Amino acid sequence: MKTQVAIVGAGPAGLLLGHLLKVEGIDCVIVERQSGDYVLSRIRAGVLEAITVELMERLGLDARLRAEGLVEEGFNLADGERLIRIDVANLTGQTVTVYGQTEVTRDLMDAAPERGLPIFYEAADVALHAIESDAPWLSFTHEGRARRLDARFIVGCDGFHGPSRRAIPASVGRVFERVYPFGWLGILADVPPCNDELIYANHARGFALASMRSAARSRYYIDVPLTERVEDWDDERLWDELGIRLGPEAAARITRGPAIEKSIAPLRSFVFEPMRHGSLLLCGDAAHIVPPTGAKGLNLAASDVHYAAQALCAFFKTHDADAIAGYSAKALARVWKSERFSWSLTKLMHRFPDDGPFERAMQVAELDYIAGSRAAQTSIAENYVGLPV
Ligand code: FAD
Ligand code: DHB
Repeated sequence: MKTQVAIVGAGPAGLLLGHLLKVEGIDCVIVERQSGDYVLSRIRAGVLEAITVELMERLGLDARLRAEGLVEEGFNLADGERLIRIDVANLTGQTVTVYGQTEVTRDLMDAAPERGLPIFYEAADVALHAIESDAPWLSFTHEGRARRLDARFIVGCDGFHGPSRRAIPASVGRVFERVYPFGWLGILADVPPCNDELIYANHARGFALASMRSAARSRYYIDVPLTERVEDWDDERLWDELGIRLGPEAAARITRGPAIEKSIAPLRSFVFEPMRHGSLLLCGDAAHIVPPTGAKGLNLAASDVHYAAQALCAFFKTHDADAIAGYSAKALARVWKSERFSWSLTKLMHRFPDDGPFERAMQVAELDYIAGSRAAQTSIAENYVGLPV
């Protein structure tokens, strides 16, 4: 098989890129290790920046998102005593949209056949070859048959554990990493949310986040030590803890219900540089991870894909090789700013095991400063809504 762009991974990054290339008339094929149902079963991000919504709009795939997504004009930071509202719409003129990663993925997946975007699901042993040449190729096994996919470029959209980043020789790559001493325990339940805007809480017992997927489906998180297991947290214990950490006002409005999904996600900051080597480009979690505080992971995958699609279009339409050469620097400039925001919000809103009274006093002072400063609130709001691409 031969194509112009071989894409590894059919998560949000791979699917978005495939569609963006297709509408520009660039031939591409996606190769995904899991089944479509498995990809849809992963409960992850929930908040879309304006640019992610605009990408779906550019593809003409925003109808359900516009109909079902919840437009959020602000969110709240809780410091144990009060809610500090960040009026995102007023401070930036923009909004974010609550619409689950699962739904974005489903919309992109459903539109693939009618737009002629080929996806090989359940492809085993995907391996990258000749990435330093002008004729890279993928090998994989599909329905028991060994396959070869030749391309001009390979784009690695295969998440943190995929093979693409690892295909780049260690001698040319550089890793920046911080692993946090806790994970987020998340619960999804078919109950109305306790608040119509998100609440990020820093309580003496730890972090909590009240989020949602719709007016009838809630998503909550607390931070837990990495030694905890999901089995340690039956639903009632988790609802009790959420009530304490979110504070009495929110607690009074929490509706409890059985978990549809419950899982623990570790927190990590990670950047791999460069995001291109030879004929291989990396997008999304394949190149970087942010801690979830601030909801940047999926949105960062979308901005990478925007830059990658631009560079590939310039290459195939105007023979502009410089656009490909410039991809990594362009994408990384935005990646590092999102890394900074996610890291700083994580530091502000969590109690770290090694923190003493001084670190706590710094958190209190910063939250107090944010509460009283329009400039500080604007800085948070413009990062939350998404920096320009
Ligand atoms: P992925 O979604 O990881 O997609 C990569 C795809 O590549 C997958 O479908 C995978 O099966 C496929 N793949 C992997 N290996 C191979 C292979 N060998 N061959 C072929 N295909 C392969 N972000 C937020 O903003 N908010 C959140 O609440 C949030 N929660 C998260 C919870 C968890 C448990 C995780 C892991 C992430 C979370 N994120 C969250 C981050 C966000 O979901 C990711 O940033 C986003 O999924 C990145 O999209 P992606 O397409 O780059 O990677
Ligand atoms: C959600 C996840 C986040 O990481 C976040 O910052 C906000 C919302 C969510 O899953 O709804």
